[in-house]
Amino acid sequence: MPELSQEDRKFQEIVKLYEQRDYAKAIEIGEEFTKKYSQNGAAWNLLGLSYKAAGNIAQAIRIFEFLIKSKSIPDSAMFHSNLGNTFMLIGRITEGISCFRKAIELEPDMINAIEALGLAYLETDQREEAARSFERVLKLDSNHQRSLYFLGNLYLTEQNWASAAKYLRKSNFGLSQSHYLECLLCLGQGKEFLNFYKKLSKRRVINPLVGGLVAHVQKLYERDVKNIFCDDAMNHIYVGRIEEEDGFSDKLANELIEYHRSNKNDYRSQSLLHNGSQSSGNLFLLDEPFATKLKFCIEKQVELYRSKFKDSEQGFLNHWPKSYELFGWLVSIKSGGNLDAHNHKEGWLSGSFYLSMPRSEGRGEDDGNIAFSYQGPKYPSGGRSSERRVVDVRPRDICMFPSSLFHETVPFKGNEERISFAFDVKPIN
Ligand SMILES: [Fe+2]
Repeated sequence: MPELSQEDRKFQEIVKLYEQRDYAKAIEIGEEFTKKYSQNGAAWNLLGLSYKAAGNIAQAIRIFEFLIKSKSIPDSAMFHSNLGNTFMLIGRITEGISCFRKAIELEPDMINAIEALGLAYLETDQREEAARSFERVLKLDSNHQRSLYFLGNLYLTEQNWASAAKYLRKSNFGLSQSHYLECLLCLGQGKEFLNFYKKLSKRRVINPLVGGLVAHVQKLYERDVKNIFCDDAMNHIYVGRIEEEDGFSDKLANELIEYHRSNKNDYRSQSLLHNGSQSSGNLFLLDEPFATKLKFCIEKQVELYRSKFKDSEQGFLNHWPKSYELFGWLVSIKSGGNLDAHNHKEGWLSGSFYLSMPRSEGRGEDDGNIAFSYQGPKYPSGGRSSERRVVDVRPRDICMFPSSLFHETVPFKGNEERISFAFDVKPIN
C-alpha cells in the first residue's frame, strides 16, 4: 500500500476527530490545516461540517458559500448539499431548496440531496414534489430506510393508513415502527395493536408517539394497559415563570418577536395553525443574544421540572434521554385564530413560554389559554371523548408537559397577538 502523504495523514486525523464528535478539536486542527492546504476542498468541507455540528451555523454557512464560489477548488454536489442542510437548520428553506437542486444537477443520483429536497418541500407544503423526491430515492434504493419513513409519513398526514403502513412496516428508521402501531389503531385492528404494543414495550421503544397512542386507548377505550411513556400525563403539567431577573429581558423578548416578524427565516407550513404563523428551523441555533439567553433560561426550567417530579416513576422521567437538544420555534396567532390539537412525537418534554397574550379586557375566561386532552384528534374515538383540562397562562409563564399529551389553543378575540415560544427537549440518538 502506498504510504500516505503528510497532508493525507493530517486530514485523516481531522476525520477521526469529527467522527468522535470532538468538534472543538476538529475545528482547531481544521483551521490550521486549511491555512496550510488552502486548495483542499474536502478539508474545508469537513471544517464547515464541524462548525455546523458545533452549532456555529453562521461560520458553517460562510465556509460552504466560500467553497461553492471558489474558482480554484473544483465544485462538488456535496458542498451545495451541505450548505442546503445548514440553511434548513435555521429555517432558510427557499435557499435550502436551491442548494439541493443545484447538488442534484451536478450529481443526479445523489440520494442525500434528493431526500433533503423532499424534506425541504415538506416544510413548505409542496407535498407532491416531496413525494416524488422520496419515490425517486426508493427507485434508486428500494430499501432506503429514511425515505420509506418519510413517504409513509406523507401518507399518514393524508390519513391514508393502509398506504402508510405499507412503507412504515419495512423501515426501522426513526419512529417508523411506532407509526406502524398508529396505523394499526387507525385501521381498527385492536388486537394487532395490543400485540404489537407488547412487542414494542419489550424492545423498550419509548417515545411520545407511543405514549399518546396508548393514552388514547387507555382513556377512550378503557383498556387496562400500562403506558410505558407516561401513565399520568395530566398530572405532569407544570407552570413556572421566567422573569426579567432570570436573564431574559423585555428588550430581548421584543427582539425575538421582531426577528420573527422580519421574516428572515421562512414561515413553516402548518395545517393545524389558523390565522397565525410559525417559524421554521431551530431558533435556539441563531447567532442572536435572545437565542442564547432564552436557551439558558429554558435549560434551567427543564431542570426545575425534573426536580419537581424527581419522585415520579413515569417512563419518560426514568428513561430521561442521555443526550438531548433543545428545539425552539415561535408561534404567533391573531384574533380568531388557534392551533388545533396535536402532540410532539419527536419531543420528550414540551413547553411554551408566553411572550404576549390577548389582553384581559373583554377576554373570555379561557381565551388564548392552552387546553390538554388524551384524545388523539385523528384516532378513532368510537363516539367517546376524553377529559379536557384548560391551563391558564399569562405573559412570562412557561408551561411544560410530557410531549405525548395532546394540546391545543383556545380561540380568542382581541387586537393583541398571542405570541408564544414553543420548545421540545428532543432526544439525540
Ligand atoms: Fe404544540
